Amino acid sequence: MDFFRIEGGRRLSGRIAVEGSKNAALPLMAASLLTDQPVTLRNVAELSDVTNMARLLDELGVKVAFAPDGVLLTSEDENRITARYDIVRTMRASICVLGPMLARRRRAIISMPGGCAFGDRPVDLHLKGMKALGAKVELRGGNIVVTADRLKGATIFLGGAFGSTVLGTANVMSAATLAEGTTIIEGAACEPEVVDLARLLTRMGAKIRGAGSPRIVVEGVEQLGGADHAVMPDRIVAGTYAVAAAMTNGDVILDEFPYDSLIAAVHYLGEIGVHVEVLAANDDRTRATVRVTSDRSLRPAMITTQPHPGFPTDLQAQFMALLSLAQGNSIITEKIYPERFLHVAELSRMGARLFRQGPTVMVAGGGELVGAPVMASDLRASACLVLAGLAANGETIVNRVYHLDRGYARMEQVLAKLGAAIERLSDSATPASEGAASAVEAASAPTSEIAASAAVPVGANRFMQDDR
Ligand code: EPU
Repeated sequence: MDFFRIEGGRRLSGRIAVEGSKNAALPLMAASLLTDQPVTLRNVAELSDVTNMARLLDELGVKVAFAPDGVLLTSEDENRITARYDIVRTMRASICVLGPMLARRRRAIISMPGGCAFGDRPVDLHLKGMKALGAKVELRGGNIVVTADRLKGATIFLGGAFGSTVLGTANVMSAATLAEGTTIIEGAACEPEVVDLARLLTRMGAKIRGAGSPRIVVEGVEQLGGADHAVMPDRIVAGTYAVAAAMTNGDVILDEFPYDSLIAAVHYLGEIGVHVEVLAANDDRTRATVRVTSDRSLRPAMITTQPHPGFPTDLQAQFMALLSLAQGNSIITEKIYPERFLHVAELSRMGARLFRQGPTVMVAGGGELVGAPVMASDLRASACLVLAGLAANGETIVNRVYHLDRGYARMEQVLAKLGAAIERLSDSATPASEGAASAVEAASAPTSEIAASAAVPVGANRFMQDDR
């Protein structure tokens, strides 16, 4: 099993581009089930979740061809309707094949996704949506079995106890494109990934209004065709690297930064004392070039995770690492997944002073992070531990980085490019890639320009005493 070894205390500097969004790419790939024409997706990151989705689609009769500039998906065998447990259990996002399969193939059998590391992740709202469109939904032997003749448009309220549902909205919106008549989704998720899906579906011939707002209207059409689409940049990856720059008092330029899609996180970064300066941007600032720098001393903040445009749950863990370096006490409340705090125990092992009560954690700032062996437990918790390792005094070992590979393309190489001393090793302690290994060598014996300029004394507080 691979792990990361990080020598903390290198200030990050340099320039990187944010990769394509995982959470946009997965439902976009599933949308290929809505047509027998080829769908080309560009800017798809090399992630294990993308590979898993490709494997699932392949089993469902979609030919998936990866090329350097994109993925070509062609649904060829529409008789395959079963998404097996073996694949679904590796990735809960498998559920987003439900709507497209039902709409075009009229039947789908999907293994019921289980809970995940950070709590229950029910699919009741997805099923409620399918039923409202006229589907018969049964649970048989651990499988969800949905059948329908042609779906019929309906008005559906998709809000739940924890707000809207992102993949539920994606499923219902996708299914409604081929339904007879008009579907109105009230309480729809407003996340930018839903907007990206609506863009692809529109290119395929769907008639959709209101994506990005809580009310989406879909006029069903008889059939959809192929399309060519570039996946939006990953806002959570962008936010993670911005926090990495901030925690190391770095100076980093990020291209393809989805500024307006990340507006809540950018707002809190500003409150904390991290500057995100826009150097260039497209009209709607969904793709910007920004420079991230921070004040010498970071300020505490009070953050609550919320559906978009609120602060994203997928950045909660990373901001907890950041706030553990602030001068003062912060409060973080998790409203989307009240149990999503697996990083708390591991971050505490690195010296963070965290006090949890239910869905709220008090982060007592002003301390110093120290390197330690820690265990990654889910994707974003792992990212939080890597960030803490970058700012900590001494060596951090982050175990089980396969969680990170689900949502960050070669994270260690990206960070090494910015001057971090980080390497990927496997249990046999053999470096997994030459690039990563040489980055650590460079950082521990600075010879390159970046490594030399990055060789500042270790320790989070010491960054802050530095004269930047
Ligand atoms: N919920 C229900 N019933 C449902 C569906 C959801 O009660 O049928 C609840 C969930 O338990 C949760 C809330 O509603 O409390 C929101 O969940 P949502 O359905 O929006 O989550 P999701 O669509 O399954 C996506 C992302 C997650 C991200 C959430 C929230 C993908 C592949 N996953 O999941 O991303 O945390 O939206 O923004 O898009 C990650 O990337 O690390 C990740 C977990």
